[in-house]
Amino acid sequence: MSVWGRVFAAGYDRVMAAPEKAVLARHRARLIQHAQGAVLEIGGGTGANLPFYGEAVQELVFTEPEEPMARRLEAKLADCALPARVVRAPAEELPFESRSFDFVVSTLVLCTVADPVRALDEVRRVLKPTGQLVFLEHVRSEDPRLARWQDRLQGLQLRVGHGCHCNRRTLANIERASFFIDELEHDRIRKAPPIVQPLIAGVARPSA
Ligand SMILES: C[S@@+](CC[C@H](N)C(=O)[O-])C[C@H]1O[C@@H](n2cnc3c(N)ncnc32)[C@H](O)[C@@H]1O
Repeated sequence: MSVWGRVFAAGYDRVMAAPEKAVLARHRARLIQHAQGAVLEIGGGTGANLPFYGEAVQELVFTEPEEPMARRLEAKLADCALPARVVRAPAEELPFESRSFDFVVSTLVLCTVADPVRALDEVRRVLKPTGQLVFLEHVRSEDPRLARWQDRLQGLQLRVGHGCHCNRRTLANIERASFFIDELEHDRIRKAPPIVQPLIAGVARPSA
């Protein structure tokens, strides 16, 4: 367990408070309100999505490979009425049966996983054919000037953001993993540094 990993987890909610209030909470609420049945959230972190899950959720499984994050999440689940649990596993190796979830949630995670395409292949595997993936992810800018800054500052972001890449082409990765995009909104994470502002929020389903 790295020292920075512990510091990152301890400070996460405080650092994210302003961007949450300005932008992220609205997207979380909109995307997660439709979660139903068996739900998997990859990289659950400190549980920022927890307040938005409703009664239609029958089972809620969070995966979280970082111990300091997993412990914080478990502490929050202790006060929560939902049938929820935390599984310590990376998104690239999901320890679940194929076609076992109705709904998968990925928020600010595909920037950090070591291998986003492999993680998305795993998400696709564990989703039922009728299932949905909802995503809220900061991505590479479509503005070439900002994208160049994202490339230049990527090394720093990787360290400060505990493995976070600010220049990933996440929408292309989702499509590469054979998902069809049903809904897509582009936004900007105000109150965050410019290199992590470009945001995509949407819903995808496994293509036939
Ligand atoms: C920026 S935080 C986002 C947390 C939360 N999803 C949110 O919306 O606030 C990124 C999370 O991804 C987790 N993570 C890192 N590597 C991962 C991997 N390979 N698979 C799944 N989650 C991972 C981190 O531990 C961290 O909790």
